[in-house]
Amino acid sequence: MTSPRERYLALVATIERHAEAYFVHDAPTIPDSEFDELVKERSALEHAHPELTQLSSPMVGAPASTVFDPVTHAEAMLSLDNVFDEVELRAWAQRLQRGLGEDVVPTFSVEPKIDGLALAITYRDGVMVQAATRGDGRVGEDVTDNVRTIASVPLSLGFVVGHLEVRGEVYLAKADFIALNDVQRAKGEKEFANPRNAAAGSLRQKDSNVSRQRPLSFLAYQVVDLTANLALSTHHQMLGQLRHWGFTVAAETVSVAGEDAMVAAVASFEARRYDLPYDVDGTVIKLDDLASRERLGTTSRAPRWAIARKFPPEERTTRLLAIEVSIGRTGRATPYAVLEPVIVAGSTVSMATLHNEDQVREKGVRPGDLVIVRKAGDVIPEVVGAVPEEGRTRGPAWTFPAQCPNCSGPLERVGDESDTYCVNASCPAQQRQQIIHFASRGALDIEGLGEQRVHQLLDAGLIRDVADLFTLRVEDLLGLEGFAELSARGLVDAIATAANAPLSRWLVALGIRHVGPVAARELSRAFTSYEALASAHLEELEAVDGIGPVIAQSVFAYVRDDDAVARTASLTASGIRLEEVVVASDLDATLAGRAIVVTGGVEGYSRDGAAAAIVARGGTCPGSVSAKTYCVVVGDAPGATKLTKARQLGIPLIEASEFEVLLRTGVWSTTLAEGEK
Ligand code: IVH
Repeated sequence: MTSPRERYLALVATIERHAEAYFVHDAPTIPDSEFDELVKERSALEHAHPELTQLSSPMVGAPASTVFDPVTHAEAMLSLDNVFDEVELRAWAQRLQRGLGEDVVPTFSVEPKIDGLALAITYRDGVMVQAATRGDGRVGEDVTDNVRTIASVPLSLGFVVGHLEVRGEVYLAKADFIALNDVQRAKGEKEFANPRNAAAGSLRQKDSNVSRQRPLSFLAYQVVDLTANLALSTHHQMLGQLRHWGFTVAAETVSVAGEDAMVAAVASFEARRYDLPYDVDGTVIKLDDLASRERLGTTSRAPRWAIARKFPPEERTTRLLAIEVSIGRTGRATPYAVLEPVIVAGSTVSMATLHNEDQVREKGVRPGDLVIVRKAGDVIPEVVGAVPEEGRTRGPAWTFPAQCPNCSGPLERVGDESDTYCVNASCPAQQRQQIIHFASRGALDIEGLGEQRVHQLLDAGLIRDVADLFTLRVEDLLGLEGFAELSARGLVDAIATAANAPLSRWLVALGIRHVGPVAARELSRAFTSYEALASAHLEELEAVDGIGPVIAQSVFAYVRDDDAVARTASLTASGIRLEEVVVASDLDATLAGRAIVVTGGVEGYSRDGAAAAIVARGGTCPGSVSAKTYCVVVGDAPGATKLTKARQLGIPLIEASEFEVLLRTGVWSTTLAEGEK
């Protein structure tokens, strides 16, 4: 049995991973509906165990990329809570009603939930000065130059004094999306999978001249009045003001009074969803009165005064031509459906994942069947099930192949796991995927080493394993297509830079099963070097905060695996350190052998920075408090669990302002009294 805490951490890690795929890479890895399920489960756990919220960051999304400058939002860009049916929608309205008082009849604004990207445009004294993507809600990316090219974004608002932000959605209208793909096809370039991807790709172009040629649109839905004192009192007025400034606001937006009228307006939207000029994945319902919004406030993730009613995905039927199996980096063999191409929610679908053997059985689909296909969240296609056809004899049921389609090695399904694996560690398909993963953004983030390049290097025989990357020389690359002196040097340099990545990134890059970014961070914080991690006992791994038995076992097995041992040996032989931080040698080892826990923000340090400072002085910075903890540094917004544990064990709590003294001297002058913080 997994504990709620373990489940929660696993969920947070999974959500983080999918959110990064969606928000940063614009490449969702699961259907929106499944993502919503995960988020729902997380909220349920948070309600049942409020202390767990300390373990996750409130922002859904992921850190900004390195391509654009980061922009810290003046006010966080929150997301919206979702409801999926009328019952949940009414429950929300009733909660709202209780918050407002029973005698008030609330006015709601009901508007389309456009499936694009949220954008915040800053105006100072009426002049547009900056535009930023949402990013993780707190920090986004500076896309000012590209946004200046969008015709529906006014560059000036006329006479407005002060600082304000206009927020809304950047999107591609369906017709513009089709036209854009026509152009792409004509140029022999890759077509976009759907309007949202196309909009994301266009907005995040490095060259604004490319963005200029993309028919992006912007629909405004909010003014964040920072110092302009606009004296707006309703959402309706706000939309009027936006229109007056020259923004486009969704023409379909309606204002309605009371719950029943609101529910009816939502239903009417749903009936017209495919008639709208843009892709919508639901409607957004907002309380009109701005003062009441203030009173109701927000949770850490979303306002209480607004809700998104998500629409169920569109479904189509098509023929299932075959079921095939692909091999991933861990050797996981994933069955997928080969479909007769069909247009679902705006784009052609010819393949869909079937996840695993059990899923194929549960869906009850056989090659040759007519099947229902949908794109949950209008993104990732999935097969729902088979449609019975009278008078047609079905083909035989599909059975999972016994051999890997790539290396012909055995495919095995172990214990009660639902996944099947190719167990041949030298299977070329696995190695290919491992290297692709290794270089990807979430792992070592090696610029210029995308999927195509990995294929090219492998096919040319220049690399066989990730460790080979670090021995590549400029001369090796020069003979390859697409490489000139500059690009070859660029890639070799990028690989050299990646070699210095902190241990946490390496642990993700090595592709240890079950080890995602959250677990990797905890492990590197606790062990600080690969060597220490590799010699840890199983119990020591399990004792690390956030590491459950499954992860511990996986790490324990990985570091002992022959291939992994050989790989780390060749990495270290190439001079790679596999350590968490570069220890500055001229610092005194004031904290030698001491475990110092930091909770909450310490001024002047990032989370990792504070840990690095401790490690640089010979200490360790574990993620949780134990009897061995020397002291706990208590910063801004500290974690309740850590404080309670420290109090129980009588571990000294130190004010963050003493952190510098602690680093310098290894001791502190005052301890926080009981009851403080
Ligand atoms: S209001 C605090 N209105 O949906 C309220 N959002 O799931 C913030 N979206 O990040 C958003 N259409 O990108 C709002 N009419 C609309 C919207 C809308 C689409 C997007 C937006 C937001 C996401 C939340």
